[in-house]
Amino acid sequence: MRKSFIAGNWKLNKQVSEAVETSKTIKEGTKNLSGVDICICPTFTVLKSVYEITKDSNISLGAQNLWYENQGAYTGEIGASSLLDVGCKYVIIGHSERRKYLNESDEIIAHKTLSALEAGLIPIVCIGETLEDRESDKAQKVIETQFSGACKNLPADKFSKIIIAYEPVWAIGTGKTATPEIAEGMHKFIRQLIENKYTKELAENCRILYGGSVTPANIESLMKEKDIDGALVGGASLAPESFIEIVKKSQNK
Ligand code: PGA
Repeated sequence: MRKSFIAGNWKLNKQVSEAVETSKTIKEGTKNLSGVDICICPTFTVLKSVYEITKDSNISLGAQNLWYENQGAYTGEIGASSLLDVGCKYVIIGHSERRKYLNESDEIIAHKTLSALEAGLIPIVCIGETLEDRESDKAQKVIETQFSGACKNLPADKFSKIIIAYEPVWAIGTGKTATPEIAEGMHKFIRQLIENKYTKELAENCRILYGGSVTPANIESLMKEKDIDGALVGGASLAPESFIEIVKKSQNK
């Protein structure tokens, strides 16, 4: 049985005071919910302040990235130990915005995923095709490459801990959500990739989130699909009311 999971990806938004206010509202609005795991992923500089609000709640904290070494001469980077130190449980890895703007390769994503797992963080590994990939019928191929790239050298016992987020690039921040059928088709395909590389049991147990213009208006139809276990929410997670509504509608799948 896979428990629903909703993560808010705040991206490069919210300074400390706003982040604290938003977290308080989310905490209040979700306090009695138990049928869904909730995570918020703010910027690095507000993690500690948000943790102070959420530490005694059912909301977990996640970072949006990490470096694959814990310490050393890596100017400007932040490693898994530092994230654990400020209360993180999860970390988003391989978001398409980082693949695009920072040239993050599958190889780097594989290192980051392993490093997070070794330190005890749960990676939310993002994979997703562009519109061009989809229109040229390469969507599955791209997903397969990104999946096997991220999981390269990942033994089954480590894989069992990760969460995957299928985020078609053409649906991110565009208001153009994938239809439940398109999303479900790709989630099923990803589950098959997991079974091929690992086992049927791991495929059945892995939580696969959908991301890309998720809103309170479309979350229910997405969550009805068998292989969609939750969502990675960007824009609609910034307003606490809409995030709370998405969380509520995702309970007890
Ligand atoms: P969006 O972003 O919900 O604003 O489309 C999702 C994401 O990038 O994780």
